Amino acid sequence: MYTKLWRRYMKVSMVNNFIKEKVSLKDKNSLRIESIARFYAEPRDVDELMEAIYFADKRGIKVLFLGGGSNILFPDSNLDALVVSFSQFRNFMLTYDGVITDAGVKLPFLLKKLSDKGFGGLEFTVGIPATIGGAVRMNLGSMGKEIFDFVQEIFVIEEGIFKRIKKEDIKYGYRKGYTKGIIISVYLKLERMDKIEIKRRIKKVLYKKRKVQPLNMPSAGCVFKNPKIGVSAGRLLDEAGLKGYTVGGAMFSTLHANFIVNKGNATSRDIKELINIGIERVYKKFRVILERELLYAEEILK
Ligand code: EPU
Repeated sequence: MYTKLWRRYMKVSMVNNFIKEKVSLKDKNSLRIESIARFYAEPRDVDELMEAIYFADKRGIKVLFLGGGSNILFPDSNLDALVVSFSQFRNFMLTYDGVITDAGVKLPFLLKKLSDKGFGGLEFTVGIPATIGGAVRMNLGSMGKEIFDFVQEIFVIEEGIFKRIKKEDIKYGYRKGYTKGIIISVYLKLERMDKIEIKRRIKKVLYKKRKVQPLNMPSAGCVFKNPKIGVSAGRLLDEAGLKGYTVGGAMFSTLHANFIVNKGNATSRDIKELINIGIERVYKKFRVILERELLYAEEILK
C-alpha cells in the first residue's frame, strides 16, 4: 500500500480539481476572520492529500493543515499558502472499547455519536468546535481532562511514510500533542457508560461552561496557556483589569478574560493588539509572562 502511495505521489497525475484558488477562510475559523487562502483543498482521501502536498511542493508553496480552525488566527491579508482542510476525512468506526476516527471528524459530532452508542469520556469537549486531529495536535483540554487521557494510538504520515504511533511514544504535555507529522486518524479508548448518564454529564459540563465562557460568540477558546497548574491566565488578565477591554471589533470577554471575542467586525490586527496588551499588562502587574495558546497562521508557515 505504501509503495502504491509513493508511486502515486511521485508520478501524480495533476487531476486536482479539488484544489481551489483564492478561497475565503471566514467560515473556516472560529474567530471569523476574513482571510483569503491563495489555494485551498479538501482532499477526500490520502491519495488526494498527497496530490495536494505535491502540488504545493512543485510550486514552492507552503502548506497549512487545518482542523476545525478553533485555535488559529489567520491574517487580515491574503494567506500565501495552500490550506489543506481535513473536513472530508470524516469516517469513524466503533471498536469494542472505543473508536477509531479520521482526523477531520468534528468533536461535537463525535460526542453525539459516542453518547448515542454508550461510550463516555469526551464530555469535557462539549462546546469546542475542534476536529479530533486538531485536538490531538494541541492536546486539547478542559475541565481537568485532556484528549491524551483517551488517545491510544495515532496513524500519521511522517516524512511521507505511514506510521502507527503508540501514545507512550509521543511526548505530549499541557496543550502540547503530536506535532511532527500529519495526523490521519486516531484511536481513542473510551468508557462504556449508560447513555442517559453520558447525556447528563454533557449537560452538566455545558451548563458550567456557559456560565463562565462566551460560547455563543466567535472566539478561539483560551488565548493564553495557564502559566502554571492552578494559575489561571484568565484570572490574571481579569485582575489586570482587562475584562471587556476592546480594540476595534475584538474584546477580552466579560465572562472569561482569557477569551477574545469577535464582536462582529474584528480584524486579525485588533486581536494581535489585544494579545500584546494582555501580555504587557499581566507582566507589569504580576511579573508573569503569558504564553500564547492561540496559533498565528504565519508562524505555522515559517
Ligand atoms: N477567573 C477569573 N476571571 C476570569 C477567568 C477566570 O477570576 O476572567 C477565575 C475563576 O473564577 C476560577 C479560576 O480563575 O476561580 C479558574 O477559572 P476556570 O475554571 O475558567 O479555568 P481556567 O484555568 O481559566 C482552564 C482552561 C480552559 C478550560 C477551563 C475549564 C487553559 C488556558 N484554560 O481555564 O481551556 O475550558 O480551564 O476547565 O488551560 C482552552 O484551552 O481553550 C480553554 C478554554
